[in-house]
Amino acid sequence: MIKIDGKGVSQKILAYIRKEHDILKEKYGRSAGLGVIIVGDNPASKVYVNNKIKACENVGFYSETISLGGNITEKDLIKEIERLNKNNKIDGILVQLPLPNHINELKITETIFPEKDVDGFHPLNIGKMVIGDNTGFLPCTPYGIIQLFEEYGIDPAGKDTVIIGRSNIVGKPAALMLIQRGATVQVCNTKTKNINEKLKNADIIISAAGVPNLIKGTDVKEGAVVIDVGINRVKGKLCGDVNYEEASEKVGYITPVPGGVGPMTIAGLIKNTFKSYINKVEK
Ligand code: GUN
Repeated sequence: MIKIDGKGVSQKILAYIRKEHDILKEKYGRSAGLGVIIVGDNPASKVYVNNKIKACENVGFYSETISLGGNITEKDLIKEIERLNKNNKIDGILVQLPLPNHINELKITETIFPEKDVDGFHPLNIGKMVIGDNTGFLPCTPYGIIQLFEEYGIDPAGKDTVIIGRSNIVGKPAALMLIQRGATVQVCNTKTKNINEKLKNADIIISAAGVPNLIKGTDVKEGAVVIDVGINRVKGKLCGDVNYEEASEKVGYITPVPGGVGPMTIAGLIKNTFKSYINKVEK
């Protein structure tokens, strides 16, 4: 069994970008910039946003965090995004999700200029992902997972893949990115029938359900690749969707929680922001 070191791979990617960014910063006289908007006081969102800002500092990017109250109107939030759209110091814009119920997430996503959409959630970037046009931005978490596959020499082509979760952030884009790379993909959700049978036959499992202990040792095939996107807190301790102790006895590769996919989401964001910066300075 190989424990996939997301933290280590992420650090390697960030160190490389730091070096490349230093060179371009010197050449073009400005840093890459990320604008982050957080609405309300969801504690998990605060942690994620802090980690993203820390990563920007780590690689030498400029960043701006805009913290807005949970009762801000959709119109005012759109105004903040439009300001970042126009700001020449900002190459990437990220509005942390989820948003309060009175705000339409799709409308917010569509307000961000596609060329600054480093989350890869704008319909134009989603469309580019669907057709395999690599000039767009890929959603950070599945992008991070693909980086892990590349780092560990895991080729998804011809692999029976089961994804649990159909969100726009993880499940759906992960499916599209793996289809693009030749995998045979099933996207499951809470209504899926015989999910244990599907898991048992899977060469690759990606779980983004947010349910602790959802996948047990008996659910996985010998030698499978198990990617755990769940971040759950049980009795104050972080854990994923997979029973790590049981599954690691059988699988070929597995990501731990924490230290697996989480740091790779950040690496994906930093890579996307750097790509946007390069697109602008080298125009
Ligand atoms: N909430 C959970 N994951 C993400 C992400 O990748 N981007 C944004 N903007 N919000 C999230």
